[in-house]
Amino acid sequence: MALLSILLAALSLSHAVRADDHEWIAPTATDLRSPCPGLNTLANHGFLPRNGMNLSIPMMLQAAIDGFNVNSDAIIQAAKFGLLSGDAPDNLNLDALQLHNLIEHDASISRNDFAIGDNLHFNETVFATLANANPGVDFYNATSAGLVQQARLADSLARNPNITNTRKEFLLRSRESGLYLSIMGDPLTGVAPKNFVQIFFREERLPIAEGWTRPTTLIDSTTLAPIETIVRAVSMWTQTQACEDLVIGPNLTI
Ligand code: HEM
Ligand SMILES: *[C@@H]1O[C@H](CO)[C@@H](O)[C@H](O)[C@H]1NC(C)=O
Ligand SMILES: *[C@@H]1O[C@H](CO)[C@@H](O)[C@H](O)[C@H]1NC(C)=O
Ligand SMILES: *[C@@H]1O[C@H](CO)[C@@H](O)[C@H](O)[C@H]1NC(C)=O
Ligand SMILES: *[C@@H]1O[C@H](CO)[C@@H](O)[C@H](O)[C@H]1NC(C)=O
Repeated sequence: MALLSILLAALSLSHAVRADDHEWIAPTATDLRSPCPGLNTLANHGFLPRNGMNLSIPMMLQAAIDGFNVNSDAIIQAAKFGLLSGDAPDNLNLDALQLHNLIEHDASISRNDFAIGDNLHFNETVFATLANANPGVDFYNATSAGLVQQARLADSLARNPNITNTRKEFLLRSRESGLYLSIMGDPLTGVAPKNFVQIFFREERLPIAEGWTRPTTLIDSTTLAPIETIVRAVSMWTQTQACEDLVIGPNLTI
C-alpha cells in the first residue's frame, strides 16, 4: 500500500512537471511547422506536439484554450478544413497546411503568396506592413489591422497575376486579424501592444518574459465579432473573384 502511494505520488508529480512544460523551444530541423503563427506558437510551447505531427482536432482545440484562451467556436471550422490537407482520417501534419487555397490564402500579413514565393515561412518584408502600422503609438488595433489588410491585398493584386481573392479569403483574413489582436491584446477592445504582436509573428513565441499574460476573457465568435466588423469595414475590401455562399455548419452560411 505504501509502495502504491509512493508510485502514485511519483506518477502525479511527473505528470505535473510535464503539464507545466510549456517553455518556448525553437523547432528542430525535423519538427514540422505551418503557415499559421498561432498553431506554430502552440507547438513551440508544447501545447501541441513539438514535432508538429499527427495533430487531431481535439488536440488543436484544447491547445487553443490552454495557450491562448481561444474557444473552439472561433477556430473549429479551420481545424475541420485542415484535415483535408492530408490523407489521415482524423489528424494532420502542420506543414501540410501550406496547401494553397484550402485555408492558406493570398494577401497574408506575414507570408508571401503561393504564386510569388514561399507561402509557408515568415517573411520580414511582407510583415513590414503590419510592423509599421499605427505609427506614433505603441499598440495595434482594429483600425490598423484593417489598413494592413487593405495594403497587403493591394500589394498582392499588383504583383500576383494568379491571386485568389474571394469572400472566403476575406473572412479568413479578418478572423486571423481578430485573433492576433485578441490574444496579444485585450479581447474586449482589440488593442494589442506592438512588441507582443511582433514577437508572436517573428518568433512564434508567447511574450511572457516581456509581460504578456494569457487573456482572462474567453476569446470566441462573440468577442471577435465587433473587432472583425471594424477590421472588415476599414479594409475597404472588394472581391476580384466570386465564390458561392460558404456553408460551414448548421445555421452557419456566410
Ligand atoms: C489556435 C488559434 C489560432 C490562431 C491564434 C491563429 C492565427 C493565425 C493568424 C494570425 C494567421 C495569419 C498569418 C498571416 O496572414 O500571415 C493564421 C493563418 C493561418 N492559420 Fe491560423 N490560427 C489559429 C488556428 C488555426 C487552425 C485550427 C488552423 C487549421 C488547422 C489554422 C490554419 C491556418 C493557416 C493554414 C493559415 C495560413 C493562412 C495564410 O495563407 O496566411 N489556424 N492563423
Ligand atoms: C503519425 O501517424 C503516422 C501514420 O499513422 C505514423 O506512422 C507515425 O508514426 C505517427 N507519428 C507520430 C510522431 O505520432
Ligand atoms: C498561374 O495561373 C496559370 C493559369 O491558371 C497557371 O498556368 C500557372 O501555373 C500559375 N502560376 C503559378 C506560379 O501559380
Ligand atoms: C520576402 O518577400 C519579399 C517580397 O515578396 C521577397 O522579395 C523576398 O525574396 C522574400 N524573402 C525570402 C527569404 O523569401
Ligand atoms: C486605433 O488607433 C489609432 C491611433 O491612435 C486611432 O486613430 C484609431 O481611432 C484607433 N481605432 C480604434 C478602433 O480604436
